[in-house]
Amino acid sequence: MCGIVGYIGNSDVVEILVNGLNTLKYRGYDSAGVALFDENKIKVYKAVGKLENLKDKLSTVKSEIKNPFMGIGHIRWATHGKANEVNAHPHTSTTSDIVIVHNGIIENFKELREELIKKGCVFKSETDTEVVAHLISEEYKNTKNLKEAVKNALPQLKGAYALCIMSINEPDNIVCVRKNAPLIIGVGENENIIASDIPAIISLTSNIIYLNDDEIAVVKKDSVSIENLDGTIIPCKIVKMFVETDAISKMGYKHYMLKEIHEQPNIVRNLLNGRIIDVNSSVELPEIKISKDTLKNLSKVQIIACGTSLHAGQIGKYLIEDFAGVSVEVEPASEYIYRKNTTDENSLVIAISQSGETADTITAVKQAKGKGAYIVVITNRPDSNITRYADSVLNVNAGIEVSVAATKSYTAQLLTLYLFAIYLAEIKGENLDKLSDLKRELLSIPTKMEEILTTEGDIEKKSEQLSKYKNFVYIGRGVNLPTAMEGALKLKEISYINANAYPAGELKHGPIALLDENMPVVSVLIPGHISYDKTISNCEEAKARNAKLITVTSSNDEKLSKLFDVIIKIPEVSDILSPLLSVIPFQLLAYHISNFLGKDVDQPRNLAKSVTVE
Ligand code: AGP
Repeated sequence: MCGIVGYIGNSDVVEILVNGLNTLKYRGYDSAGVALFDENKIKVYKAVGKLENLKDKLSTVKSEIKNPFMGIGHIRWATHGKANEVNAHPHTSTTSDIVIVHNGIIENFKELREELIKKGCVFKSETDTEVVAHLISEEYKNTKNLKEAVKNALPQLKGAYALCIMSINEPDNIVCVRKNAPLIIGVGENENIIASDIPAIISLTSNIIYLNDDEIAVVKKDSVSIENLDGTIIPCKIVKMFVETDAISKMGYKHYMLKEIHEQPNIVRNLLNGRIIDVNSSVELPEIKISKDTLKNLSKVQIIACGTSLHAGQIGKYLIEDFAGVSVEVEPASEYIYRKNTTDENSLVIAISQSGETADTITAVKQAKGKGAYIVVITNRPDSNITRYADSVLNVNAGIEVSVAATKSYTAQLLTLYLFAIYLAEIKGENLDKLSDLKRELLSIPTKMEEILTTEGDIEKKSEQLSKYKNFVYIGRGVNLPTAMEGALKLKEISYINANAYPAGELKHGPIALLDENMPVVSVLIPGHISYDKTISNCEEAKARNAKLITVTSSNDEKLSKLFDVIIKIPEVSDILSPLLSVIPFQLLAYHISNFLGKDVDQPRNLAKSVTVE
């Protein structure tokens, strides 16, 4: 949540800050601002709404901006105080000697605010962030040095922060620091850039310094020096990163979401590559550093995650229980952390997070680690915060996901869970007879995904017809109940249409009261499992209440065309592997309905890609 960019060097500061913020739009997008060190003044410009509004503002004040040498910028997802210009970052101290941008939450801001007001500080905004500007300004009065002032201020802060700070008295450096929020420094030739994520720096440099918690960096045009709170100098470790330029380009697609949906077959193909070398040999997961003996003797597995990652985890439960015979609990991380749970040193906790930054999931992992559990983290960002607490990290390797609605990271998480469940079953010697067939079928999944994507035109037409409805019910059974939940989540997130998912068998226990001709029922039907016939019966019950019926199915049964109003076909697939395919039509339906309704597909209202607050 929230994106930060800082730049120092001889290039066009405004352009670099705005371009950097543009690549971080997925982190928040309700207001934006920049502070420029220009003509020995700090000039601050802010705008509410999309980044385009800030761009417009900057172009109208072009003549005011002379030749800035450094600046900081921010794109916001409001937590404290409305999305308005006053609450937008950057924030300044009373005398405007200090200016900061911040990502995270200052938990004790109310107490600090009261103390600072008593000292004469004048607050302008409702944000938690503003206290940090005042606090550093107060400390500066004693230290006359920005780095030292920051060092003195930090122990007074509770919460999470990534901060970039400028002082009117120090025209040649930006100071930055982080704690439980990401911040990296891109090292260039006579220029340096600071950002909360890689996309903001890749056009400038591929040399990166990953800042650790409580490390304070002084970033000048031609140097970076880092020390920790007690003054110990930390060597700058520059890492050459792999530049994923394709990931931050739409590659000709209208939206990132559509591009990311289409990337799924290759992501799955690449993930399988090297993991299933031969269907008769064991799955290769060298990243799992937990001993085989430990894995054999696990008393239970707990999966914790949020949102779409939670849906992947719910499917993971079926897989691990079915293949490896170990009991699995799945829980939203935000629930796990506030109850007395049974995690212990014989538990394996699997945390799933695309971003690796989700505050709820990180807190849950810390708690589980504190209880001695083994931690496996499944993430798309192996350099993220959550991986610090992991015994093993499974990188789902989906590439940077820009659209706020998760798609490719979901199928990559699913595939990783399939591989892990098979790996565990092989270690435990469970179901060995059926695992080879399963692996063989897994290898055919990327091609089947491609087949579904060729039917996109047809799904687009159906989406147009369906876009007139204001409410939807999604139903599924067994391994495809989480698929129905994910389908409903995708639709609500990007089209703002009310869509609720239920276990198909639960429909008759209450939700059926909602059904009439205005409430379409969307189902998943995969033959080969008892749940197929049972789900058809539930659809019949819905039809009897005049509901329009839509199904995503691999069935060739012609009788279905009498029952269903809309049929979206997917290739034949076994029930247990079907979630890898059945979700794709749901992603496309949500995408095309949202696009048809003219919604902001990639940046839906009120959402942010990384939810770094609990
Ligand atoms: C997915 O479309 C959502 N944007 C959201 O539910 C997301 O999955 C959730 O916030 C968890 O994020 P994470 O995977 O990065 O932890």
